[in-house]
Amino acid sequence: MCGITGFTGSESALPFLMQGLSRLEYRGYDSAGVTLISPQGLETLKTKGRLSELEELLKSRTLNQCAGIGHTRWATHGVPSNLNAHPHENEAETISLVHNGIIENYAELKEDLIHAGYHFQSDTDSEVIVQLLDYYYKSEQNMFTALKKTLKMLRGSWALCIVSVYEPDTLYVAKKESPMIIGQYEKGTFCASDAPAVLSYTKDILPLADGDMAVLRPNSLQVYNAAGKKMQPAFIHFPYDVQAAQKGGYDSFMMKEIYEQPKAVRETLRGRFRGMKIYMPEIDELKTDWQNVNRIVLIACGTAYHACIYADTLLKRDARIMSYAQPASEFRYCSPNVDEHTVCIFVSQSGETADTIAAMKLAKAKHCTTIAMTNVLGSSLARQTDTVVYTGAGPEIAVASTKAYTTQLVLLHVLMMKISEKLGYKPKNITRRIRDLKRMPEIIEETLGYRDQMKELAHMLKDQRDAYFIGRQLDYPTALEGALKLKEISYVHADAYYGGELKHGPIALIEKNTVVVALATQPDIAAKTISNIEETIARGANVILVTDQNIPAEKFHHVLRIPDAAPELANITSVVLLQLFAYFAAEEKGCDIDKPRNLAKSVTVE
Ligand code: AGP
Repeated sequence: MCGITGFTGSESALPFLMQGLSRLEYRGYDSAGVTLISPQGLETLKTKGRLSELEELLKSRTLNQCAGIGHTRWATHGVPSNLNAHPHENEAETISLVHNGIIENYAELKEDLIHAGYHFQSDTDSEVIVQLLDYYYKSEQNMFTALKKTLKMLRGSWALCIVSVYEPDTLYVAKKESPMIIGQYEKGTFCASDAPAVLSYTKDILPLADGDMAVLRPNSLQVYNAAGKKMQPAFIHFPYDVQAAQKGGYDSFMMKEIYEQPKAVRETLRGRFRGMKIYMPEIDELKTDWQNVNRIVLIACGTAYHACIYADTLLKRDARIMSYAQPASEFRYCSPNVDEHTVCIFVSQSGETADTIAAMKLAKAKHCTTIAMTNVLGSSLARQTDTVVYTGAGPEIAVASTKAYTTQLVLLHVLMMKISEKLGYKPKNITRRIRDLKRMPEIIEETLGYRDQMKELAHMLKDQRDAYFIGRQLDYPTALEGALKLKEISYVHADAYYGGELKHGPIALIEKNTVVVALATQPDIAAKTISNIEETIARGANVILVTDQNIPAEKFHHVLRIPDAAPELANITSVVLLQLFAYFAAEEKGCDIDKPRNLAKSVTVE
């Protein structure tokens, strides 16, 4: 996700651009830039770092132009740097563009443009668009038709805003899959990625639809639909204030991010399958001697560690190889028995967790192959491993991780299948798993339909100080994650146990009305988990059963049937229910959900 602003009007554009970008920093903040334009030409200033770095850069300049574009970036292609920051200009410096989205076919387009004599400044996919625009403008001599031709060549997602010296008071806008709104107020016409950027000027906005293009001038705006037909603008009155708008109308960033999971999973899996084949060039490019790899170790902290347990359990089903998941803080001090025949996978949403980075350095010193999985392009972890695979969760603002976790699960699922193949094994049930991975956004969407039921069930915790989560095999990391979510944001003490371990001690804790959340999504061991649950019911527990198995419900107080999916994927949807359960428990207790006490979003200290 990135933040875009654009303005053309009768007053200086810069204040609108910068205020808008500051309201959009939750969409991305690793670099920022603006282009101001007048009949005298373009002026582009951009820099790596937060918006405050750009403000510092602008202090020494006098920029009163009445048209311009701005961008705050969440890097997806090309690490955060001055050159990779937006806006991007064509070589002739006559056109400038900002982009939010991913151009899937940018590599082949870039190759064609280089053959046509173009030179590129950046490593981004976005720069391809402005060079292509230049190419078509040369023949069309008309920005609108040049843009139409350019868009026809692109595959992927975009929200674009373009300025040029050919029409210095005009913004050209195009939208497909990434959000873009446009509108007017007394001083001019604007576009922006999201409403928070404009609400201090007007609450009347026009969200563009996929395929729309728009031409914005100081006193006019014109929208054309995907068929090129002129549209009568249908403005909506935006009901929220800036704070609420930044949360997408949700009460918290956490709830917004829970609901962003279908889109985040779709972005993460984008381009990962060619039919039923896995596409993961980051692994193919490794120089690893897979025939002699004898150990796979997954290392992370907190929620990311739970994702590693999931991945390790999955790998054990597909490949006969020694593997384990370990917290980074333990890996560092257990003198791990790893070497050049070991592949170490480091999972970290932020890519900045001190323990995980230290563990990675130790693995490198022992000549292991090191793979990073992170959500932040160019993060410390991403820059130091042999290769990196990126989740597509976008910025995760809430301290409690939700969309970062489910995107880690789906991408680790693909990675584990890829590694199994590299080791000479054919992953079991692969056709159904790939089919259901492709369906995962819709499956999660359907699971979010349980929201009200989870809110109701959360009342069970009102007078409870403890809750227990149980699961076996692939359900165990889900139990761990459900317990962590509850602890983190509602401060209710929660523990997770292997179902089979209850009778070896923990069941002593069960008494009347104790809340037990049981996960039973694995067909081969669901019956075992059910007998564990019955042991707790016999001692007075209040049980919530999460399952997709055909289990008679009459014995249980509450049964939540998740949508049907391959057993290897069922826990990606069941964890969504536990996120909602924890959320509503915290809401009922009046906790600060986005910023829980004692916690930081990224633990950059040991
Ligand atoms: C998750 O809800 C927590 N905020 C925490 O456990 C987090 O997962 C952990 O600190 C690891 O962070 P990372 O993924 O950025 O490395």
